[in-house]
Amino acid sequence: MNLIYEGKAKRVFKDPNSKDRVIIEFSDSATAGDGAKKDTFPGKGAIACDISEILFSYLEGKGIDTHYVKRLKGPQLLCKKVSIFPVEVVCRNIAAGSFCKRYGIERGTVFEKPLVEFFLKDDSLHDPLITMGAITRIKLVTRDIIQFLIRVTLSVNYYLSELLKQQNLTLVDFKLEFGKTEDETIVLADELSPDSMRIWDSKSVSLDKDVFREEKGDLVSTYKMLLDTLRAASPEDVDIAKEVVQVIVEPKSGIKNPPGEVTKKALVRLGFAEVDDVRVGKVFNIVLKKPITTEILNHLNIMNVKLLSNPISEKHKVRLE
Ligand code: TMP
Ligand code: ASP
Repeated sequence: MNLIYEGKAKRVFKDPNSKDRVIIEFSDSATAGDGAKKDTFPGKGAIACDISEILFSYLEGKGIDTHYVKRLKGPQLLCKKVSIFPVEVVCRNIAAGSFCKRYGIERGTVFEKPLVEFFLKDDSLHDPLITMGAITRIKLVTRDIIQFLIRVTLSVNYYLSELLKQQNLTLVDFKLEFGKTEDETIVLADELSPDSMRIWDSKSVSLDKDVFREEKGDLVSTYKMLLDTLRAASPEDVDIAKEVVQVIVEPKSGIKNPPGEVTKKALVRLGFAEVDDVRVGKVFNIVLKKPITTEILNHLNIMNVKLLSNPISEKHKVRLE
């Protein structure tokens, strides 16, 4: 098979049967600390592949777009071919790992709300933390795509956390990668395994790669235990989370806006002399019964043109923040 890419624990091959698919093979190797630690664990690749298969199928079942197509023989998944965005998206529920080191926060501190962080995918720079401002200035991805990735990451966090909670496990943090398929759909890509997430049991014992990073036990039996636990979970018992998106409709510049003029006059009359201009628009809070996908964003644009806004006099914007 034709090798396209070789990562630290995975190889990606061309699919001989289709030009828009790839084959992802999980290897038995593990690295940590930016490659400083490296070892091989016979059987690890197959288990990580089984876990990825379970979690991708589960998320697909809940309506999240992923690159997963089907399981192949051996430690291989057939996936959609994507161009990967050059950012890694990390979501944290509890302080651990680099967050504790960076900010001097105690491991195990529970956050009030999940935190989403971005890292630049560049081994030669050691994948530094990157701000949203820098992502847009360097033109890695657009602001709209960043907001979309945050929303999907938070959905993934909800669904994975709920599934693990059933089994008395806690999702501490995880790293996601996203990409765009040839038809411009943004999908969750890469892998979903304990190599790229932290999972604790009820006594804060790690069921993930921290076992290797911190030499806390046997990696393969830990991964196998997590796999067996996931096999015993009931994905159908996890409720679908509602999503709210905001559609903002504003008068185009240059178009007369009588409600804005009336409001401005009234404000000035009330003594707010600093008011120079007011433009009045509309806000729609739309509640969705599915996670946000590229298709839903396209639907929102069609809703705008067909009903929510007047394309001649108004501009519309979907807000995901
Ligand atoms: P961190 O605490 O080291 O930043 O890691 C946060 C999460 O991201 C953790 O679950 C491990 C995962 N991760 C990767 O999958 N690959 C990486 O290269 C790094 C640094 C972290
Ligand atoms: N995956 C990174 C490495 O291979 C860092 C880590 O997961 O600890 O070095």
